[in-house]
This record gives sequence, structure tokens and C-alpha cells, in this order.
Amino acid sequence: MKKLWVVVLLTVAAIYFCSACRIKAATDDRLSFKGAPTTKEQLGEKLFFETLLSADSSLSCASCHIPAFGFADTVAFSRGVGGHTGKRNTQSCANITDRPVLFYDGRAASLEDQVHFPIQDTNEMSLQAAQAVARLRANKDYVTWFGKIFGSAPTEKNLAEAIAAFERTLETSKTPFDRYMDGDERAISAAAKRGRELFMSPKAKCFDCHFSPDFTGDEFRNIGLYDGVTLKDEGRYGITGKKEDLGKFRVPGLRNVAVTAPYMHNGMFRTLKEVIAYYDDPYKVVANPINIDTLMLRPLGLTSSEKQDLEAFLLTLTDDRFVKKK
Ligand code: HEC
Ligand code: HEC
Repeated sequence: MKKLWVVVLLTVAAIYFCSACRIKAATDDRLSFKGAPTTKEQLGEKLFFETLLSADSSLSCASCHIPAFGFADTVAFSRGVGGHTGKRNTQSCANITDRPVLFYDGRAASLEDQVHFPIQDTNEMSLQAAQAVARLRANKDYVTWFGKIFGSAPTEKNLAEAIAAFERTLETSKTPFDRYMDGDERAISAAAKRGRELFMSPKAKCFDCHFSPDFTGDEFRNIGLYDGVTLKDEGRYGITGKKEDLGKFRVPGLRNVAVTAPYMHNGMFRTLKEVIAYYDDPYKVVANPINIDTLMLRPLGLTSSEKQDLEAFLLTLTDDRFVKKK
């Protein structure tokens, strides 16, 4: 009888450990490296996928910044701890190395500064920074890794430094557009080439706001998505309190935009076609915008093939790593 119990116990233990190993292996599969992290970037990557950083250990940064979707989310408003949602669409956190300020309203001044916002935000991970650090300090693995990499225990500062270092690795330039710019004429279609010309032309005016290698000048502009009635996010005004900033949002970069739907600060457009139709005639969507940019005052008058060309161009900005393999 005793023997039987030993066998049963051993079997149960074996099943438990095997499934624990499997879960561990599955988790590690998402990382770009194997085994223990040995650099700041790798430690940051590990932390980016770490659910310990949310109050109920249910969410990591990657829950909303999903790697396969250009490090953005697929819904208008991401669900935080306890199902809470905020008022903004999750931005991509790729190609942000060169951003002088972060968020749609520019409320974070650097990547290091940015990190504590989502951890503490009650609509996101809902954990006090001090608690996050305490959890890492209570974890033998993290204590060892931080010790080796930073020469100290986890702190708010080195936690932010590690995540920021990982985010700086998320620059994506293996795109048909970049190959075309490097001289490969066949990298993009004729439609995309026409779309690019149009994007930079006085007719479409996209380039007036979406310029630089990442297609943003990092300015705050108002494209008409604030009317104080149904569209009530005041954007940059919420930070500066200056009347001229009402309804202004930081111009988003457009790299990988094909995989980061839905679009705009409130995720109100589901497709690039809807975005382009909006720019063509904003007033069809928002009748009485407040403080709209002078560039947007008149409809653009794009033909349907011009709209298709613009979309074809935007599709060339997708990095190879996000292109679904058939
Ligand atoms: C519950 C969903 C959620 C989680 C979890 C989350 N974020 Fe975000 N993230 C957002 C939203 C929403 C925004 C846009 C907020 C805004 O602009 O006001 C954002 C914006 C950002 C930005 C700014 C991007 C830019 O272009 O300005 C960065 C960087 C970022 N998050 C990194 C992180 C990191 C690092 C973590 C983990 C510590 C994290 N996020 C966790 C939803 C989330
Ligand atoms: C006056 C400046 C301005 C002009 C002109 C402009 N944009 Fe934008 N664009 C913005 C701003 C600001 C946002 C973010 C607005 C928001 O979230 O409410 C944006 C958002 C977008 C987005 C959504 C990105 C995302 O991740 O959600 C796309 C796509 C886009 N613009 C493409 C274009 C195209 C194509 C044109 C030309 C037809 C164009 N833009 C012209 C300022 C501009």
C-alpha cells in the first residue's frame, strides 16, 4: 500500500514539473535569446515580458505592446489590470529611440522616464514602482541578473534603464521602402512609387507633418479629432494648459503602420482606407472640429486611385519581421 502511494506521488510530481518546464519553455520562446540575460538589453527584454510588474501578475508590457503587431495592440482601448481601460489607443513602442518626448500628449520626457507610467497607471499595470522593485528583489533570478549587469540590486532607476535599453533595439528598417531608398527600384510597386510622390506633394500634404526617417517631426498637431462634444480628448492641452494646444496630439511615426490598426489616439479608424478617406475630407467625419490645423482646412480632393496609391505606399513601411509568412 505504501509503495503505491509513493508511485502515485512521484507520478503527480513528475507531471507537475514537466508542465512547469513546458510553461517556462513557452515563455522563453518569445525572447530573442536563450538562458539567462547577460546584457541590459536582454534584461530589459525579459522585463518587457514580465507579468510580475502588474498588480495581479496578469499583464506585461507585451500584453498591450504585442510584438507580432508592431508592438501595438489590436483593439482601440487595451484592457489593463481588472479589465480597466484608459482613453488612448496603445502606440507602437518600436522606432521610438529618436523621440524627444513620448505619449500622444508628450507627458514623458525620455524612455527611462516613460517606464514608470504604465507600471503605476491604474488603467494599466496598477503597481506602485516601489512594489515592482520589491518583487524583483524577492526574486532570486532577478537579483542575480541585476547584480551581474548593473552591479546592484534592482532599483526603480535600473529597472527603467533596462527596459529603455531593450526598447532602443526595436528600430525597424528592413522594409521594401528602405530597400527602394537604397537603390533597389524593384523593391516597391509602381503604385507605391506614385503614392510616395503624392505623400510628399502639396496636394496630399502628408509629409508636412509626417517627415524624418520615422515619418514624424515630433510636433503636436490637431488634425480635427477634437470637437468637445463626442471627441473630448484635449491632447497636449491636458499637459500645457495652453489654449493653442487644444486637440493637438504628437504626430505618430508611420513605420509598420499596416500592422498597428486601429488608428489615432482613440483608435477610431479600423483601416488605413478609413484614415485616408478621413484626410481626404475630414468634415464628413467630424463636422465641427475645434482648433483644426490650417493644412486640414479644405478637403484634398483625392481620386480613388490616388487613395489606393497612398495606401500602397504606407504598406511599404512594414518591416520584414512583421510580414506574415504564408
Ligand atoms: C494596458 C495596456 C498597456 C500596458 C500593459 C503597457 N502599455 Fe505602453 N502604452 C499603452 C497606451 C494606451 C499608450 C498610449 C498612452 C498615451 O499616449 O497617452 C502607451 C504608450 C507607450 C509608449 C509611448 C510610445 C510613443 O510613441 O510615445 C511606450 C514607450 C510604452 N507605452 C511602453 C510601455 C512599457 C515599457 C510597458 C511595460 C512596463 C507598457 N508600455 C505597458 C498601453 C499599455
Ligand atoms: C497637420 C499635420 C498632419 C498632416 C497634414 C497629416 N497627418 Fe497623419 N497624423 C497627424 C497627427 C497629429 C496624427 C495623430 C492624430 C490623433 O491620434 O488624433 C496622425 C495620424 C496618422 C495616422 C495614424 C497613425 C497611428 O498609428 O494611429 C496615419 C496612418 C496618418 N496620420 C497618415 C497620414 C497621411 C497618409 C497623410 C496625408 C494624406 C497625413 N497623415 C497627413 C498629423 C498629420
